[in-house]
Amino acid sequence: MRNNPSSSSPRALSSSPQALSSSPRKRGSRKLSIVNILNQFSQALTSSQTPLLDCEILLAFAIKASRTYLYTRPEQTLTPEQQEAFLQAFEQRQQGKPIAYIVGHKEFWSLDLLVNSHVLIPRPETELLVEIALNLLPKDQSLEIADLGTGSGAIALAIAKERPQANIKATDYSKEALHIAEQNAERLKIKNVQFVYSNWCNELKGSFNLIVSNPPYIAEQDPHLSTGDVQFEPKDALITGPTGLEAITHLIDQCRKHLRTKGYLLFEHGYNQAHEVQTILQRYGYKDIERFQDLANNERVTIGRLE
Ligand SMILES: C[S@@+](CC[C@H](N)C(=O)[O-])C[C@H]1O[C@@H](n2cnc3c(N)ncnc32)[C@H](O)[C@@H]1O
Repeated sequence: MRNNPSSSSPRALSSSPQALSSSPRKRGSRKLSIVNILNQFSQALTSSQTPLLDCEILLAFAIKASRTYLYTRPEQTLTPEQQEAFLQAFEQRQQGKPIAYIVGHKEFWSLDLLVNSHVLIPRPETELLVEIALNLLPKDQSLEIADLGTGSGAIALAIAKERPQANIKATDYSKEALHIAEQNAERLKIKNVQFVYSNWCNELKGSFNLIVSNPPYIAEQDPHLSTGDVQFEPKDALITGPTGLEAITHLIDQCRKHLRTKGYLLFEHGYNQAHEVQTILQRYGYKDIERFQDLANNERVTIGRLE
């Protein structure tokens, strides 16, 4: 059970997270150890479902160490700079800011990706789409692939890393997102992705064996938009119109011009959109439509191909 910080002893209260973070004078006044911070601040982090994990990540970030290090040196005290860095990160998290935006990184498909508030935070469930794409792509062929709405570059870079012979074009309509994606490619030394500023397929040149996309698919009145991490994510990465199917329908239509014979269109969608997505694919002449479930048994990815 959590301790209520307000019922702690006066001595404990003087070093409580609230006291430390509310008064700048007090902020640097007492040296805290790693174990102190984890115990006290995890109890105070009421805005999170995973307070201890969050505090571990924020503390590791503030002292520029790994999470494992925290448990090998629990008695180590923080320097004033480290303490200040932790408090600033903690305050942002207490206000609901996603951990990935605070620390500026997110792991996806074992790639360490830079992220900021201009890009969607890559989701673990999107790894399903990468897995399906890789199953379609033989290792030894130089296939042409497009990733539409690349954001941080997550999908394009994961595929590019696994299939170095493939040529990948990755588009986005956000220059800020493309900037992050380009930085990620550079940091990861991935050279087989070319980034293109484009409104979906408008500036896309060529034809492709496989087009992948995780487009915005949330309906504009969806109540989830005002909860959790998504409140902080770019609206253009999430919302597409009143039904949530607008971008998907547009892509299904436009991609026909860019798919080679027997080329695949593979995309992620909402857990409750699989049936409608299948109907739209059929309406636009796609065949061999298959729906895939994520680990929670939700149908989140659908594929179709042109004959
Ligand atoms: C759901 S996010 C996916 C980001 C990334 N692919 C991922 O899976 O983490 C959708 C992306 O589509 C981009 N986008 C939205 N409208 C677009 C458009 N008209 N043309 C191209 N990209 C667009 C957004 O900027 C955003 O990066």
